[in-house]
Amino acid sequence: MYSFFKFILFLFPPEYAHKLAMKAIRLVLSIPLLNKILDFSYSEPLEFAGVVFKNRLGMAAGFDKNAEYIDLLHKLGFGYVEIGTVTPEPQDGNPTPRLFRLKEDEALMNRMGFNNLGVEKIVENLKKYQKHEYTIGGNIGKNKWTPNEEAHLDYLKCFIAMYDYVDYFVVNVSSPNTPNLRALQDKDTLVKIFEVLQNHRKSQTISKPIFLKIAPDLTEGQLDDIISVYHSMKIDALIVSNTTIDYEVLDHNKAFAYKEKMGGISGKPIASKTNEVLAYLKSKDTSLKLIGVGGIDSGESAREKLALGCELIQVYTGFVYKGNRLVKEILEGKL
Ligand SMILES: Cc1cc2nc3c(=O)[nH]c(=O)nc-3n(C[C@H](O)[C@H](O)[C@H](O)COP(=O)(O)O)c2cc1C
Repeated sequence: MYSFFKFILFLFPPEYAHKLAMKAIRLVLSIPLLNKILDFSYSEPLEFAGVVFKNRLGMAAGFDKNAEYIDLLHKLGFGYVEIGTVTPEPQDGNPTPRLFRLKEDEALMNRMGFNNLGVEKIVENLKKYQKHEYTIGGNIGKNKWTPNEEAHLDYLKCFIAMYDYVDYFVVNVSSPNTPNLRALQDKDTLVKIFEVLQNHRKSQTISKPIFLKIAPDLTEGQLDDIISVYHSMKIDALIVSNTTIDYEVLDHNKAFAYKEKMGGISGKPIASKTNEVLAYLKSKDTSLKLIGVGGIDSGESAREKLALGCELIQVYTGFVYKGNRLVKEILEGKL
């Protein structure tokens, strides 16, 4: 069924296909009988960092940037949805085309650049969902024009505005498509961001966990720094990882990627790269709490992440290529 749906969708440019697919799913599920029959929601609850997740598999950030599909994605089987990346002010992102299918590699290349409606409008979208009905992560970032020295204030704005509406937060400093964003992975800058967030959290009655999402392209020295900040700032978990800018991971579309120059690779080719980072982190420190994302495209690749010590996992690109059958394959493999 998804093969046919995908055949149609892949006739359209990727970004348009994404919107079309979600509109079609919304339309189909608005028919009460179909809504009842097509319910793939899957419950195998677990607690992680003090939050109850309906199951271990989440939709990774970037798919539902504006909190528009949370209900649909839960219905398709995801145990949680990470919205965003959300920035304080709305921004258009980079000019199109900015999302490419690298079919032979079962990968995507994107340079979206944090296109989103801005935190105010996104909070309005979040208010449409009943509290505690879904598990929602808020992935936060900075506006393109905010200098890195003031980045912590952007993270804080999003954190404050979304505090009552999400279950956990993710500090995203690892997207390759906002100039210099990855420099925020530097130790001192990270401390500054986490300090302001933790200070605000202290004033709240409920303490929401804050995770850090990292790039797969960090050196061992940088990873060691991340581990030290993880402990000093009491970060609740690491999400490993974002897209890679190492085009050597591609088998078939290397020349295309180098020609396009800018953009991060996701999907099958990044699985082993993220697994190497996960393995390094665990070899250095078994106490780290980890969420694995990157190249999960089968039950087996999901189990690999779990075997490396991840308690939660996420997918994006695999879902684009395989649709709901991937969700089923992963969850019915009894994780
Ligand atoms: C089109 C696209 C947009 C993305 N946007 C974001 C984003 O806004 N914030 C973020 O933290 N990660 C973003 N990501 C990265 C994914 O969340 C994920 O970390 C990465 O794609 C690796 O997982 P995958 O191989 O399952 O796709 C994006 C990925 C894609 C393909």
